[in-house]
Amino acid sequence: MKEELVRCKDLSKTFTVGNSQVLAVNGVSVSFQKGEFTSVVGPSGSGKTTLLNLIGTLEVPTEGKIIINGTDLSAFSTEELTNFRRKNLGFVFQFFNLVEGLTGFENVELPLIFDSIPYETRQKRVSEIFKEFDIEYLQGKFPEELSSGERQRVSIMRALVNEPILLLADEPTGNLDTKTGQTVLDLFKDLNDEKGTSIILVTHDLSAAKRALRTLHMHDGKITFDQINEEPILDKEN
Ligand SMILES: Nc1ncnc2c1ncn2[C@@H]1O[C@H](COP(=O)(O)OP(=O)(O)OP(=O)(O)O)[C@@H](O)[C@H]1O
Ligand SMILES: [Mg+2]
Repeated sequence: MKEELVRCKDLSKTFTVGNSQVLAVNGVSVSFQKGEFTSVVGPSGSGKTTLLNLIGTLEVPTEGKIIINGTDLSAFSTEELTNFRRKNLGFVFQFFNLVEGLTGFENVELPLIFDSIPYETRQKRVSEIFKEFDIEYLQGKFPEELSSGERQRVSIMRALVNEPILLLADEPTGNLDTKTGQTVLDLFKDLNDEKGTSIILVTHDLSAAKRALRTLHMHDGKITFDQINEEPILDKEN
């Protein structure tokens, strides 16, 4: 039976810029189930990133609420939100956001340091994840020595190292060539298929969106269409 992971209830976010206000997310109510892979599409400025950041607790809603895994986040302080985020959520961004002066290994280790995980456990966990994804050769390299695709792989490891209950990705293939983008999408698909990782993927690319079983279409801060992709592209070769 399906189990609810995220519920957004009448969610709105208004940004004030000077004298004007932008309603970036406008009364969105939507749920995500455990193990679900959902993509979010829509024109530039339609509120995709804002919705993702609200769910990721990086932004605080102006109205409405978010419940993740049964926990209502409305009453959380900034510090409680930070702790919740570190323990439960993983983020992948378009521009990777790796720390330049740190090796691949150290970048992936960072979330565990923030989470006060002891040294020995960290070393073990980080080594394991590089091994599991077969990219041990990237451990000792600095971001500036890596290709874009390799950087994104390391940043995905970083997002996964603390075993988040939800992976949030904002245009993760936006800075990759088509072929490299495909391998990153394959990785998301495998994570979802094989490990049941819950994923919300924001993308401009409709074919990338179709890798997910469900696609939300956004327009002017609202979800205008909640679509089940009848034939998600399962075959990696296509
Ligand atoms: N921090 C902010 N301050 C002011 N306005 C913002 C802020 N973040 C987003 N907005 C505005 O909110 C609206 C939605 O932006 P958002 O970034 O969520 O859209 P998007 O769908 O992710 O667009 P894109 O496809 O270009 O990334 C836009 O009008 C944007 O200008
Ligand atoms: Mg965006």
